[in-house]
Amino acid sequence: MAGMPSPDRQVLIIDDEPSWVEVLSRELKKQNYQTTVAYDAASGRKAVVEDGFDGIVLLDLRLPDADGMDLIEPLLAARPGLRIIMMTAHGTAADEDQARQRGVHLFVSKSEGKSRIIGAVESAMALLKQASELEHYREILGERYRFEGILTRSPKMKKLFEMLEHVVDSKVSVLLQGESGTGKELVARALHYEGPRRNGPFIAVNCGGIPETLLESELFGHERGAFTGAVALKKGKFELADGGTLFLDEIGEMPLHLQVKLLRVLQERQVERIGGTAPRSIDVRIVSATHRDLMEMVREKRFREDLYYRLAVFPVYLPPLREREGDIGLLAQHFLEKAVREEGKGPRAISSAALTALEAYPFPGNVRELENIINRAVLVATNEVIVPRDLPLGVLETFRPEDRVAPQAGPQPERGLAELDDVNRLVGQINAARALPRVGLDQAFDVLFGSLADLPSADLVEQALIERALKLADGNVAEAAKALGMSRATIYRRIRKEPVKGEAETA
Ligand SMILES: Nc1ncnc2c1ncn2[C@@H]1O[C@H](COP(=O)(O)OP(=O)(O)OP(=O)(O)O)[C@@H](O)[C@H]1O
Ligand SMILES: [Mg+2]
Repeated sequence: MAGMPSPDRQVLIIDDEPSWVEVLSRELKKQNYQTTVAYDAASGRKAVVEDGFDGIVLLDLRLPDADGMDLIEPLLAARPGLRIIMMTAHGTAADEDQARQRGVHLFVSKSEGKSRIIGAVESAMALLKQASELEHYREILGERYRFEGILTRSPKMKKLFEMLEHVVDSKVSVLLQGESGTGKELVARALHYEGPRRNGPFIAVNCGGIPETLLESELFGHERGAFTGAVALKKGKFELADGGTLFLDEIGEMPLHLQVKLLRVLQERQVERIGGTAPRSIDVRIVSATHRDLMEMVREKRFREDLYYRLAVFPVYLPPLREREGDIGLLAQHFLEKAVREEGKGPRAISSAALTALEAYPFPGNVRELENIINRAVLVATNEVIVPRDLPLGVLETFRPEDRVAPQAGPQPERGLAELDDVNRLVGQINAARALPRVGLDQAFDVLFGSLADLPSADLVEQALIERALKLADGNVAEAAKALGMSRATIYRRIRKEPVKGEAETA
């Protein structure tokens, strides 16, 4: 686009203090930045919304025509990739928390001096650069492999798909291992629908979800009258999958005596219904999956070794999401688009601050968890962009420096030191502002409410909190309301003890 400056080394200063703006501009120019200056909120907004500014924004908290805080969201709505650094002369911890929740990257005090601000600009620039490199990477990765519907840009995953290509067309048994939510079932289906058996049936059995006594007849079927309750003939999943794929999910949960029977079926390629007399030949491709370490179970004699080698002719390990470089952003965007399509409305982008928080989160529930988090964010977002406030507290809380620095989650993507620094600082501040009080609460709760039976009603707790706040605020309702993040009306209503929904019955 002609005339539109690239975000590289562009800084927009929105501040009403000419001498300070002068100092900053001079310093930034020395470091080869191009600066744009706006002396009030309206012209800052115009620079982004109308003139298409993209890059880093240095935003003053107090502006003559508006509160800088209220400018964050409109700016991000116009350009979600902006990195906003908030500068303030006398900002409080509460201001800082609010600014971060709304999507600023850094919060710096003017009293820390111009070099601190230039440092902040440098680290924000490193982040921006990385984002645009990823964008580029995403474009050149446009080429397709056969596994449609499974999104990835991670080199690890691509290597895995290259391997799977070799077995799509064959009948070899594939064992999929990986943590919960890593896409094992998705891959099992892809193996079926991309291969020569695609016109045959794909039959899935959850070996962990069926009572042991039923699993046997579920898999192998039974003749009429084979046992009490067997009132009609029932075909087993093996028979039903004939000519197609049988997906044995949660194979690690299969009881040992059934493992023996399964092994025999696989060796002889024949099944016999319970109570039956004639075995019948079957032609099925077996794909199995488990979140357990089957090899370990073999060592502990909880899983038969011979069966293991039958099932794991081609073992595949699906890496956890946190080890898939670049995938959190890609999948988050994908699930956002999907949710918005389904809802018919919702935010259209994820702010870079929210993305940074997501990228630092370890996702124990992997892709499924990410999808849930995005679906929830789409519902709670009040703006056109998803900001940290829309993410679950758990994501912001685990945003600890150790998670970023410790290599325990496999090889970390290469990130600039500046970014790490930036993230660590952000983390420290989020912890200070949010997580610590929560940890304190958890400890208090441990003491007060040890079991479900000890729990009071949520209404009672709310009532107690309001009374506490009023006491601390010397009865000043406005102050109490502010501290609790409630409206004054709610507080008045509660001190007058008006019944809320459901209270009348329980009281
Ligand atoms: N790479 C991916 N691209 C798009 N969607 C994905 C990807 N991986 C997983 N999903 C989606 O995430 C969800 C979880 O995947 P799936 O059910 O295959 O996981 P799983 O490994 O079988 O989990 P579990 O062990 O809990 O059964 C599904 O909705 C799936 O469509
Ligand atoms: Mg599954």
